[in-house]
Amino acid sequence: MTVKKHYTLSNGVEIPSVGFGTWQIPSGEEAYNSTLFALKSGYRHIDTAAAYQNERSIGEAIRDFGIKREDLFITSKLRAEKKGYAVAMQEFNDTLERLGTDYLDLYLIHAPKPWGTPGDGMDYMELNIESWKAFIDLHNAGKIRSIGVSNFKPMHLQPLIEATKVVPQVDQIYLCPGSMQDETVEFAKKHNILIEAYSPFATGRLFKAKNINEIAEKYGKSPAQIALRWSLQRGFLPLPKSVTPERIKANLDVFDFEISEADMQLIDKLDVPPRN
Ligand SMILES: NC(=O)c1ccc[n+]([C@@H]2O[C@H](COP(=O)([O-])OP(=O)(O)OC[C@H]3O[C@@H](n4cnc5c(N)ncnc54)[C@H](OP(=O)(O)O)[C@@H]3O)[C@@H](O)[C@H]2O)c1
Repeated sequence: MTVKKHYTLSNGVEIPSVGFGTWQIPSGEEAYNSTLFALKSGYRHIDTAAAYQNERSIGEAIRDFGIKREDLFITSKLRAEKKGYAVAMQEFNDTLERLGTDYLDLYLIHAPKPWGTPGDGMDYMELNIESWKAFIDLHNAGKIRSIGVSNFKPMHLQPLIEATKVVPQVDQIYLCPGSMQDETVEFAKKHNILIEAYSPFATGRLFKAKNINEIAEKYGKSPAQIALRWSLQRGFLPLPKSVTPERIKANLDVFDFEISEADMQLIDKLDVPPRN
């Protein structure tokens, strides 16, 4: 099975099929150096967020690398705690300023509800719809090439779509071997929403799963490369994070082998230690 180096979003925008994840990369030297190394290694898709507090360092690395803006795909996210039309507009402008760019390729509502608040997030849907209206206006004004959400389940997606008739182009969710998120994936397929798979290594816990080393050895690849190839073969867009140069490089080297369907099904069900 061949996998794509780019996906095409529902609005025709092309997106590189592996993105460089930057959560928990501290601002300053570490974010600057790892982003610069990722760009030098060939990544053309960077995933950041206002909440990661590293947009400024990432912007500096992008400028120093010296790439044409149109050759790079930059994603950022509206903080989960910041909701509403005017708030979203202001937050978006602040993100642009920190990144030092005048448009984003993808902007996401980071989560349906502020982190750590109780409930399923449905109490925040009216505010999310107001944020979404700001996203639509920014998209129509040419300030964002594509718009989406993150951590949204069908129950959150449905009211957003009903209220605005605008379907997100992307939903970025926790998705790795052993955590398939069938309900959201099914909904996304039906509505032509691309699923971005965040934490493709379960923030490192994947490497503790039983059988992952055996499968990797069979293909002469690393466990990380197996997880990324698996994600691509399932049609997802993985966002691996690393601050280690050789890993950053190796995580992009996943286009020259193929996992058999029997092994794909084993990987679907890997026993990865759960999130806290
Ligand atoms: N939208 C959301 O709410 C959300 C939530 C979580 C994550 N995300 C996005 O998804 C990205 C990735 O998720 P994540 O940060 O949770 O982590 P991840 O990519 O699942 O795993 C990162 C961990 O794996 C290690 N690692 C990376 N490549 C490796 C390799 N080839 N071999 C062995 N170990 C390797 C890293 O170590 P070193 O860094 O030390 O090399 C780090 O400890 C984030 O950075 C962010 O962009 C989004």
